[in-house]
Amino acid sequence: MPFRVGLISGSARVVRAGPQIATFVRGVIEKDIASQSTVAVEFDVIDVGTLDLPAHYDEPGIPSHVENIPDDYVHEHTRAWSQRIASLDAFVFVTPQYNWGVPAALKNAIDYLFKEWRGKPFMVVSYGGHGGGHAAAALQLILGGGIDMKAAPAGPVSLSFPNRGVLKKAAKGEDLELAGDAWADKQADIVAAWRQVVELLQAV
Ligand SMILES: Cc1cc2nc3c(=O)[nH]c(=O)nc-3n(C[C@H](O)[C@H](O)[C@H](O)COP(=O)(O)O)c2cc1C
Repeated sequence: MPFRVGLISGSARVVRAGPQIATFVRGVIEKDIASQSTVAVEFDVIDVGTLDLPAHYDEPGIPSHVENIPDDYVHEHTRAWSQRIASLDAFVFVTPQYNWGVPAALKNAIDYLFKEWRGKPFMVVSYGGHGGGHAAAALQLILGGGIDMKAAPAGPVSLSFPNRGVLKKAAKGEDLELAGDAWADKQADIVAAWRQVVELLQAV
């Protein structure tokens, strides 16, 4: 059975760079998987921008107190989200940084659930004008501390836009032409964190 990994793209703007950066990260990981062929992985690409969830948490209860998932959730949108995340073994979060923080839509999607995330391995890749390191650090704390997921020990990887021109293109959702050699100096860090996610998965 392949491991099922959620590749979560955290931006929800109408025009955004997120999905193409998630595709780039996936490409780096898939290249590593192909070179090693010791692990079978199936990705579920989750675009927070197209999820069928309200913009604000609207369940009456506290997710960590819910006993029977997904049946005890009141809303069908929560049950569907719960089943999707419960079916996955590990996660690669790819997130922008908004004003030094985690995008509200991503935080909202995380907060809807608890037991579906808990104990599962994850890694974080952030991006932004300066790499989005503050958002990455906050996300590590939310997932590793607040929800008790298992963080890849290498920590988050931050991808900085190389110049203001690229930042402007990203903001407009234009094609960043992320070829295989983009962020060449960071690809080894992505692979290192990914391999730790696999180790955590295999240890389960
Ligand atoms: C609301 C908002 C806040 C932002 N805050 C930051 C920031 O704190 N640091 C940074 O480097 N870039 C920041 N940016 C610029 C983003 O890095 C850039 O717009 C990027 O394209 C956002 O990712 P997205 O296109 O996937 O939404 C911000 C952009 C937005 C829309």
